Amino acid sequence: MQNGENGSVNENVGTGSLVAETQTDVPENGESVAKKHKGFTGRIGFVLAAAGSAVGLGNLWRFPYLAAKYGGGIFLLVYILLAVTFGFSLLVLEIGIGRLTGKDVIGAFGKLNKKTKWFGFVSLVVPVLIVPYYCVIGGWVTKYLFAYMSGDGSTGAMTGENAALYFNNFISSSWEPIVFFIIFALLSFAVVIFGVQKGIEKIGKILMPILAVLSVGLAIFAMCQKGAVEGIKYFLVPKLEGVNIAEVFLAALGQLFYSMSLAMCIMITYGSYMKKNTDIQKSARQISVFDTCFAIVAGLIIIPSVFAFASSPQDVMQSSGPTLMFVSLPNVFSQIPYAGIIGSLFFLLVLFAALTSAISLIEAIVAVLRENLGMKRWVACLIVFGVVLLLGIPSSLGFGVLKSLSINGMTILDIFDYVSNSILMPLVAIGTCVIAGYFVNFRAIKDEIGLKVNSMRDRYFTVMIRYIAPVCMLLILIFNIIGL
Ligand code: PHE
Repeated sequence: MQNGENGSVNENVGTGSLVAETQTDVPENGESVAKKHKGFTGRIGFVLAAAGSAVGLGNLWRFPYLAAKYGGGIFLLVYILLAVTFGFSLLVLEIGIGRLTGKDVIGAFGKLNKKTKWFGFVSLVVPVLIVPYYCVIGGWVTKYLFAYMSGDGSTGAMTGENAALYFNNFISSSWEPIVFFIIFALLSFAVVIFGVQKGIEKIGKILMPILAVLSVGLAIFAMCQKGAVEGIKYFLVPKLEGVNIAEVFLAALGQLFYSMSLAMCIMITYGSYMKKNTDIQKSARQISVFDTCFAIVAGLIIIPSVFAFASSPQDVMQSSGPTLMFVSLPNVFSQIPYAGIIGSLFFLLVLFAALTSAISLIEAIVAVLRENLGMKRWVACLIVFGVVLLLGIPSSLGFGVLKSLSINGMTILDIFDYVSNSILMPLVAIGTCVIAGYFVNFRAIKDEIGLKVNSMRDRYFTVMIRYIAPVCMLLILIFNIIGL
């Protein structure tokens, strides 16, 4: 592996045609021509769709919990620092690879270097494993939205001990979660089937502004409640005692990388739909800002509400993931006047955030089928829908009928989650950096991103992708495996 920057043998292995093709924009077949016209119409469309992907359940049910656990303001500070360095570099790398090649993830790695095409297949496993169970959880969110809209939130059904009972009864039912899972999946596929411009871009332009207004509105409401100030302090003021900075660093890194939808094939796919004259760095900056701000606003909704209404707020903040969202928060909401309205608005927010993320994952798989097998969009959607049903139904039943299939206390859904998030994603991120940095024409990717040869940014990016990011991801991988 040489470090040769300007045309070393290694940097150009198998990529002789890459630069010529992209520079002259000669598409390989009619499909590419069609795609060029049907990509995002401009920067706003791209940024909103990508931010829609980034803003998801992770921001809502993990970020506030991690911040509460790892020293409040300290965690925020480390997170923001990592977002502008590590997160930003990986994000522009993926978008750059997508736009340079103009292809789905398999096509992209194949076009960078024929010998790295296999890596596209490996990467594809990530969205294939995540979509089904993400749709199952999306179904739970849909159920809660319905429940609040139909008044369950104000009847005491989710107050105190009842909250956990309500949730457990629901997820262990043999049919109800499946119905909601299918409703959520159908909603997501209904968008993807309309294509990039008429489906994904349009929905991003509608849902993301609503999401912003809704989240800020709920945060203001939460922060105005009596006792909320303690929560705001708990979230934002740096606390050093009892905090291990190495742990904070790893937790922030892991969260950041999940939150920005990295190593999921999404940013490569969306990048391939980006216009050549759109500024990649500016777009990436806007996506990161949107994602981080939303995570902070989510914290400002959840933590102040918990402090204002829960009897032992610090204990409630020990819960994350499904327990926080479907048990602790409904219990908190039940103490609020107008629980039905607040609960409905909150779960509408969660639903929109989850939908735009699921859509992005589905599109990454649909793109592979369309571009490599020449399938029509609707046929590809139908096949992916079939796979989602096939893998999603067992995940959904893993809390009831199929509970005996748990391994080590992990349900089927947990296993999908662990394998994809904790093992495969760090591996794919390491692979993407190593392939881009050492085995293909790295210069062409950097040109695509708009990094001038030997400029400060260019050198910084090189060091980040070749050395720092792979090492950081390796640490996360080791941490995830040991932490099991
Ligand atoms: N960024 C998303 C989140 O924070 C992660 C994700 C994206 C998950 C797409 C699934 C699909 O939740």
